Amino acid sequence: MPVFAIIPVSLLFLVVYLLVSSSTSNAQHVRRSEFPDNFLFGTAISAYQVEGGYLEDGKGLSNWDVFSHIPGNIKNNENGDIADDSYHLFWEDAEIAHSLGVNAYRFSISWARILPRGRFGEVNPGGIEFYNKVIDNLLLRGIEPFVTIHHFDHPQELGDRFGGWLSPLMQEEFVLLAETCFKSFGDRVKYWTTINEPNMFAEMGYVRGDFAPARCSQPFGNCSAGNSDKEPFIVVHNMLLAHAKAVKLYREQFQPKQGGSIGIVAHTHMYEPLRDVESDHQAVDRVLAFTGGWVFDPVVFGDYPPEMRQYHRSELPWFSAEETEYVKGSIDFIGINHYSTLYAKDCIHSPCVSGGDHFIRGFAYTTGERDGILIGEPTGVQRFYVVPRGMEKIVDHVSKRYKNIPIYVTENGYSPPLAVPNLVHDVNRIEFHKGYLAALARAIRKGADVRGYFIWSLMDNFEWAGGYSSRFGLYHVDRATMERVPKLSAKWFRHFLANRRTMIATRTEASAAVM
Ligand code: NOJ
Repeated sequence: MPVFAIIPVSLLFLVVYLLVSSSTSNAQHVRRSEFPDNFLFGTAISAYQVEGGYLEDGKGLSNWDVFSHIPGNIKNNENGDIADDSYHLFWEDAEIAHSLGVNAYRFSISWARILPRGRFGEVNPGGIEFYNKVIDNLLLRGIEPFVTIHHFDHPQELGDRFGGWLSPLMQEEFVLLAETCFKSFGDRVKYWTTINEPNMFAEMGYVRGDFAPARCSQPFGNCSAGNSDKEPFIVVHNMLLAHAKAVKLYREQFQPKQGGSIGIVAHTHMYEPLRDVESDHQAVDRVLAFTGGWVFDPVVFGDYPPEMRQYHRSELPWFSAEETEYVKGSIDFIGINHYSTLYAKDCIHSPCVSGGDHFIRGFAYTTGERDGILIGEPTGVQRFYVVPRGMEKIVDHVSKRYKNIPIYVTENGYSPPLAVPNLVHDVNRIEFHKGYLAALARAIRKGADVRGYFIWSLMDNFEWAGGYSSRFGLYHVDRATMERVPKLSAKWFRHFLANRRTMIATRTEASAAVM
C-alpha cells in the first residue's frame, strides 16, 4: 500500500505545508525553546462567546443576552444562546486544549451565572458548581486556569436599575463578584485578570454604539441615547476603580493565603507614523497613551496619561487622593490583547477627516493604508492587518513605559477574510502565529519580561456584533453538531508546543517533524 494511503488527509496537508514553508525564504523561524521553560502557552475564550446555556441552572439574563436578542444588533441576528455549547461540553474543551499541549487556559466568568441579580439577589450555586467543574477539569489535565473575572457581559438587572458601568454603583457590584470568585475558586486559580479591555468596551459600547448597551452620539455613531465625548471616560473610570478595589481586597484577604497574581487586560494595537515627520511621531505616542495608556497608566502610576490630561480637561475624571493610593500599583502584571498595527497621522497641526475605515483617537487619525498600500495582509476583521513586527514594538513599548513589569499576551489571533472558503486548512493562521511569536521572542531577547502567550481562540465562537462570521479558532465548530474539528493550525500549535520543528530547512527534517 502506498504510504500516503495510510496518512490522514490533514496530516498530509501538514507535511505539504511544512515542505512548502521550508522553501519560502520569508518564512519565520520560531521554536518553543526560544521561550522560558515556565512560560505559559494557552488558548483564550470568554463566557458569552462560547458557553451558551443562557438560562440554565439559575443563570440570569445578561446585557448581551438582551442586546443580541434585539433584531438588527448582531450580524444575521445571531446570538449566544447556544454559542459553542461549552456549558455542556466544557470537559471536551479541556480535552482538546490538553491535546494541544497547552499549560494554561484563559476563560471568563459569566457574571449572570454567579450572581444573576448582583447584590440584589443570592449567589447561584449552579454557577459556582459549573466553574468548579471547569477549573478541576483543567487542573486534572495539568492546565493552569487563567481567569478573567469580567469580559463584557454583566447581569442585565444592573443595567436596568442604575445604568451599569455608567454608575459608580457598579464598582461595589464588581467587588462582590470578584470576592465571590476569590472565595470559591482562589484555592485553585493562581492567575486572575479583573476586567478585559475596558478601553474596547468603552469604545464599542459608548463611543460607536456597536456593542451593548449601544450608547453614542453623532458623529461617532447613530444611537438613541448617549454621549460619545463624555460617557466612555466615565465608564473606564468606574471600571478602573472597580478593578483597584477588587485588587485591594484580594491583596488584603486572599493573596497572602492563596498566593496567586492579578492583573488587568487592555486592547493594544501598535501604531507607526504615517509620514516621517515629527508631528506623526508625536501622534503615535499620543494614540498609544489614549488606548493602552488609558488603562495601564492609572493602575501603574495612579493617574491617566499626561497626554490625555493635556487634551481632555473637564471630561476626564480625577482620582481622589485616597483613590490614587489604591489605584496606583494595583497590578502584578499587565495583560495585552494584541492583533495588529496601524499608521497614525497627527490631527492637531494637520486637517483630518473621520469616518469609514478611519478613526480619530488621541487627535490622531489611524489607518491601515499609506499611499494606497496596506500596512499588512488584510484579515476578516476591519482594521486588523497582519503586521508581526508590531508585536515586538508593542511589547517593547509597554515594557519600557511600565518599567519592565511582567507581561502576558492574553490574546493574539487571526480570522481569515470572509471570502476565504477553506475552513480547516488555515495556512495563513499558522503564518500569522509564527510571525507574531518570532517577534515576541525578539522582544523577550531584548529584555521584556513576558510570561505567557494565549491564542485567541481555542475554537471559532460568537464574535460580538459580528456573530459567527469571524473564525479565530484553532478548531472549527460545526454549528449543527457542535463537533470541534481541528484545523491545520491546531496541529501546527501542537507541534510547536512539543518543540518540534515548525520551520524546517530540509525535506528530511520536514518528514521527521510530523512523525
Ligand atoms: C478582543 C476581545 O477580548 C474578544 O472578546 C474578541 O473576540 C477578540 N478581541 C477578537 O476580536
